[in-house]
Amino acid sequence: MKVTVVGAGNVGATVANVLATKGFASEVVLIDIKEGLSEGKAMDIMQTSHMLNFDTTVKGVTNNYAATAGSQVVVITSGIPRKPGMSREDLIGTNAKIVKSVVDQILEFSPDAILIIISNPMDAMTYLTLKDSKLPRNRVIGQGGMLDSSRFRYYLAEALNEAGYPATPTDVDGMVVGGHSDKTMVPLASIATYRGIPVTQLLSKEALDKAVEATKVGGATCTKLLGTSAWYAPGAAAAALVEAIALDAKKLIPCCVYLDGEYGEKDLCIGVPVILGKEGCEKIVEIQFSDEEKAKFDESVQAARNTNSKLGDALK
Ligand code: 2OP
Repeated sequence: MKVTVVGAGNVGATVANVLATKGFASEVVLIDIKEGLSEGKAMDIMQTSHMLNFDTTVKGVTNNYAATAGSQVVVITSGIPRKPGMSREDLIGTNAKIVKSVVDQILEFSPDAILIIISNPMDAMTYLTLKDSKLPRNRVIGQGGMLDSSRFRYYLAEALNEAGYPATPTDVDGMVVGGHSDKTMVPLASIATYRGIPVTQLLSKEALDKAVEATKVGGATCTKLLGTSAWYAPGAAAAALVEAIALDAKKLIPCCVYLDGEYGEKDLCIGVPVILGKEGCEKIVEIQFSDEEKAKFDESVQAARNTNSKLGDALK
């Protein structure tokens, strides 16, 4: 299987690197507009193949979309990242133009590809991609929920350790739905578990609220420390989505998809649990939220609609 990653910045290069080490793709094409950047990163990744024992070929190209032809999955990371103090929504004007032009060029050479959008503000970029490309909704998927859920597990594991229950993030199950946004993402504490035990039985309300709040600003916290946005976890999250599609794994993963009546919403892309397989989003799973979480999900929907309204001319 051939996968393209658009954008050879920190996130895109990490996606290519994780895909290579996982080894299920025969070819990963890394493409960027900056002369030599993709080639250099691809070469660097390929020079780990002997040590890391993978047979995936990673190829870097500058602006040569013909080299991406026939990709089954395309991950789009293009656009500017946020700087400390910026919200993801602040990037909308610049990134909308970039994402639109990338999607047009990708589909010219890979008309059957499933697209995974990472560029921020991700929910609005996913909506824009869907509207602009007119692709069926199963083929346009935004990556946010996988990353945010992974951060939620990390903070829940920290809280459990503090409460005297030894935990690493793999001991914890937790899901985040709603928009990929500091203020309005919705970590679902009510259904999070520690080795099958509801965390609500083990953690105080204060400890749970702290984990939820830390998760919501998880990206901003990294951005503050790094001076730019994070890449290891966002890159690994996108690679996990590619893997579920490539292996037809039918995994339940929260992803940003177009709702057409599910969760009582229409004409919007937002994070909900979906089944990912070879068709992309094969099913949207409707689950019960607590009353408090439902109210927060509704707020998140409103915020996503508000951001979409700023897409303006980009939608034409
Ligand atoms: C993050 O949350 C880049 O949006 C991404 O780190």
